[in-house]
Amino acid sequence: MSLKVCVIGSGAREEAIKDAVSRSVLCEKIVETPEDGADLIIFGPEQPICDGFVDYYKAKGFQCIGVDKKFSRLESSKLFAKKFMVNNGIKCAKLLPVESNIFPQVVKADGLCKGKGVKVVYNQAEKDEFTRKIPKPYFIEEFLDGSEISVMSYFNGEKLVNFCPARDFKRLTSDIKSPNTGGMGAYCPVDLSEIQRQKLNKYLNLLQTALLNEGADFKGFIYSGLIWSRGDWYVLEYNVRLGDPECQVILNLLDNDFLSVLINNEEPEYKNGYSACLTVAAEGYPDDPVKGDEILLPDDERVKVYFAGVKSENGKIYSNGGRVLSICAVSENPFSVLREYAEKIQMEHKIFRNDINIF
Ligand code: AMP
Ligand code: GLY
Repeated sequence: MSLKVCVIGSGAREEAIKDAVSRSVLCEKIVETPEDGADLIIFGPEQPICDGFVDYYKAKGFQCIGVDKKFSRLESSKLFAKKFMVNNGIKCAKLLPVESNIFPQVVKADGLCKGKGVKVVYNQAEKDEFTRKIPKPYFIEEFLDGSEISVMSYFNGEKLVNFCPARDFKRLTSDIKSPNTGGMGAYCPVDLSEIQRQKLNKYLNLLQTALLNEGADFKGFIYSGLIWSRGDWYVLEYNVRLGDPECQVILNLLDNDFLSVLINNEEPEYKNGYSACLTVAAEGYPDDPVKGDEILLPDDERVKVYFAGVKSENGKIYSNGGRVLSICAVSENPFSVLREYAEKIQMEHKIFRNDINIF
């Protein structure tokens, strides 16, 4: 097989997908748009998926990897996701009345909000301030205490192929009250206890059964944001795509051919060690990042750099977004490699988290 593959999207996650696809023996070349004769389209971000572009291109005869419009509501409507879970016996946080005054509680806007529609609030004043800012409708759910993992799965139309658990760091700093971002770093695998592993397998079987029972008829990625609480996994959210930056760490640890996993039903296999990613962002992120800094990258063969928000001009690169670079390494202690590298990057207004580690 020799495929022309188009990857929709332009962030660090999509760079990592292109990198993995271009290493595949099944790939002839990466093409820029479906019209360039693509044999396969892989969708990266949620927006085109939720806007129905998978259905659109499938109807035109293209092979697509991306969740269809119907199931994209698992991400675009948190209430749709809640119904899906409740109907299929999947554990999730309980809904509370909107006026509930049990704190902490979690406020969630229903639509796509790029990670900004959810907040854990600790008192009425915080709740009022947040609910004034977010789109309606919103709902309130109980607060679950525990540690979180991200599990990404590929539904191949018949069954789920699951990638190893990853963990992302959503907050801007180590302060639990600092804002949620699109992700400041990630690592995989996450070491789980035997009971956590068993319960995870049970959950993933339930998810597979739920998709089949509800008539899922697509090939695409489903991301489960899970929290270990009260001795079981609870779903906090679904995304209908690979996570960013979780995708980068999984694909860098993958030892076999990514397209063979997607097309030939191969089970994912992994290299030894841990895979980590650190986001280099711009001061002011997430609200108002400084743009336009020239960036000079050190040479280090241990580190892979994916561009997230960068523009090139006359052979130089400049910061051009909130999340600027996604730097990745695989080793026994990858965050120390990445911190050392991030320190050496020349970019006037860079910020990155230097506290995150594997735990
Ligand atoms: P979500 O976009 O729904 O994953 O929410 C973003 C983050 O908010 C999650 O990664 C959690 O850290 C936190 N969160 C969401 N829902 C809950 C909950 N019910 N209990 C505790 N934390 C939550
Ligand atoms: N890292 C979480 C996400 O991609 O939404």
